[in-house]
Amino acid sequence: MKILFLYYSQSGQANAIVQSFAKGFEGDTCVFEQIKPVQPFPFPWTTFQFFNAFPETFAQQKIELQPFSQPTINDYDLIVFAYQPWFLTPSPAASSFLQSDVAKEIFKGKPVVTLIGCRNMWLGAQEKVKTHLLRLEGKLVGNIALVDRTDNVKSVITILRWMLTGKKDAFWFFPPAGVADVDIQNMANMGKMVHESLQQSTLDTLQTRLNEKGAIEVKPNLVLLEQRGQKAFGIWSKFIGNANPQSLQRKIRVGIFSFLLPTAVFILSPLLTILSAIMLRVNKTKLTAVADQFKQNGKVDFFKGN
Ligand SMILES: Cc1cc2nc3c(=O)[nH]c(=O)nc-3n(C[C@H](O)[C@H](O)[C@H](O)COP(=O)(O)O)c2cc1C
Repeated sequence: MKILFLYYSQSGQANAIVQSFAKGFEGDTCVFEQIKPVQPFPFPWTTFQFFNAFPETFAQQKIELQPFSQPTINDYDLIVFAYQPWFLTPSPAASSFLQSDVAKEIFKGKPVVTLIGCRNMWLGAQEKVKTHLLRLEGKLVGNIALVDRTDNVKSVITILRWMLTGKKDAFWFFPPAGVADVDIQNMANMGKMVHESLQQSTLDTLQTRLNEKGAIEVKPNLVLLEQRGQKAFGIWSKFIGNANPQSLQRKIRVGIFSFLLPTAVFILSPLLTILSAIMLRVNKTKLTAVADQFKQNGKVDFFKGN
């Protein structure tokens, strides 16, 4: 079997996830292709650079990528696509690749497994990836989402510290930033499951088996938080994106956004935990059904405009 591992990784996490996952594909021909923007994103970021990347990322505006290094023949038995959400949207490198001509060639008719390594909010980004894959006629057969184990508010702090200073280690009462090492190591087992499923031609039922091993966890309060986030980001990305990129107006709008976003997370997150506990009682069947849908690979009609 010939497997293409296609990934973007700015600070190395998705790369580590892919390398561990690939260990499960013993005996297969593994081809690795890292997606590289022509103009790399800064790391660590300044606060302004970080929030300034938001409007174009959310709008999935294409950025220029370095040429695809593999011969672009459509002869892979499986494509593993590893990416990370940025602002509830696939990162610009990932979304630009999905909009490229090469993608049209390689994904057509091929089974695809997506690997996500992120803080904890990936549902909408994955819906956007699903939309691209439908257009590209790729067949999504599996998804594994690795998220930070710590709670929502703490992980905002640890991720922002990591992204803005490059420091990933534990400090005060905060755990290290990013996905836990043990979860990354476990990806080798997940890879093995996918490898076996490919060998046995049982990819159609792969997701169920992956879910039994904890490939995806969907928390109802995060579904609600993301629903609000997707809506608000739609408005904010237009508001900031409408200002000329070099203008003072843009700088001011980015400044307001960089203050409001973390504040909203800190205030909304605890409120929504309480609200979702109430809604789970009142509306348990619906919310559980929505959470279950996000664990499968069909399109979920929950966030508008994805
Ligand atoms: C600009 C930016 C925005 C991000 N937005 C999100 C997000 O919306 N949801 C989330 O779970 N993680 C978010 N993250 C964290 C990333 O998904 C990812 O965990 C981190 O960038 C490390 O990935 P890498 O090392 O593979 O590049 C964001 C990171 C960056 C740099």
